Amino acid sequence: MKNFINYIVYDKKENLHDETKMVRGALGHDPLSGSISFPIFQTATYRHISIKENTSFNYSRIINPTRLELERTMALLDHGYQAFALSSGMSAVTLALSMLKPNEHLLLSDDVYGGTLRACDEVLKNNGINYTQVDFTNLDEVKSSIKDNTKMFFIETPTNPMMKVADIQKISEIAHAKGICVVVDNTFLTPYYQKPLLLGADLVVYSASKYLGGHNDIIAGILVVKTKEQAEFFALQNAVYGASLAPHDSWLALRGLKTLAIRMQAHSSNASQVAEFLKQHPKVKKVYYVGDKSHPNYELSQKQTTGFGGMISFELDSMATVDKFLERIKLILFAESLGGVESLVTHPLSRTHSEIPKETCEKLGITPTLLRLSVGIEHVDDIINDLKQALE
Ligand SMILES: Cc1ncc(COP(=O)(O)O)c(C=O)c1O
Repeated sequence: MKNFINYIVYDKKENLHDETKMVRGALGHDPLSGSISFPIFQTATYRHISIKENTSFNYSRIINPTRLELERTMALLDHGYQAFALSSGMSAVTLALSMLKPNEHLLLSDDVYGGTLRACDEVLKNNGINYTQVDFTNLDEVKSSIKDNTKMFFIETPTNPMMKVADIQKISEIAHAKGICVVVDNTFLTPYYQKPLLLGADLVVYSASKYLGGHNDIIAGILVVKTKEQAEFFALQNAVYGASLAPHDSWLALRGLKTLAIRMQAHSSNASQVAEFLKQHPKVKKVYYVGDKSHPNYELSQKQTTGFGGMISFELDSMATVDKFLERIKLILFAESLGGVESLVTHPLSRTHSEIPKETCEKLGITPTLLRLSVGIEHVDDIINDLKQALE
């Protein structure tokens, strides 16, 4: 049994920095073989020793050593009680939403990710769960939108694509005074730059297909919980839904995590220079970047995050410029998604937000000439030169 117990017991690494936790993980290496690269336990099931003795592993939908290493590493980084690694960011979002019961209500960020809105519109509503979209940067609007049956706030900060920043601490205070659970989608900043649980939130979700994985090669999600009770609830829900991340993808996510800190630094540094370039360009009407001193929530970002990340939205002067830009870019790729090492640009109105009513998009500022750029970690001069030639 000694060898098996080694997979279960791990050091919480409380005195170590995030960078070290990312590189070394929870166990960090295989306790049996000493393999530095944590093994991919590509197995569906596990042999029991006897009725009385088992290895703590039973079936890979429920528990798998490679996935467990990823889950523990994420729980360490987010200061959570436990994490669940899931087959997509949407699995993490819907698992969090599964807390809600019929006749309950939730508040959602007004420019929340389209897939989350679709889950609320197409699935939750059919189950008698209603929502109101609010601007979480306006605390009066948040307070006045709370109903007697409101049980959850679902926040994205910064939002996609308008880069609005919500005050997690203040919002959590408002929520907790009324017994409301706060869920933060932390996909854009990752635990390296923002730790929602330490700011008062109750749950954190991620699309690990983005910065956590970091290489545009996996679809994965993470849900981090704060308490034992939440962990027990979601373990049961997840056993039922069966959306656990596969061993190989868990390994890829673990491998991505090892370089998360230096990647985030590179994304941020490149993004601040790209934002500066865009701001000066005559064909760029407006730049939305949380690291810009003129951003309305700049001070809040400085207070609650340790970095600004790599996401920029910007508005061009005409549709003709947008069309030409998307045809002419060479290094930057016109593609959905974000957070990978490659720079990607998308046109929110026709791509990520195509299912959102036009009037809502207009109200939010998602105009036909708005583009969203996920700044990669290529050399910043090459990114800027590509933008320059595409905007000529
Ligand atoms: C902020 C945010 N949350 C959740 C998701 C869903 O993640 P996935 O595509 O991994 O299911 C996305 C995907 O774009 C996203 O941008």
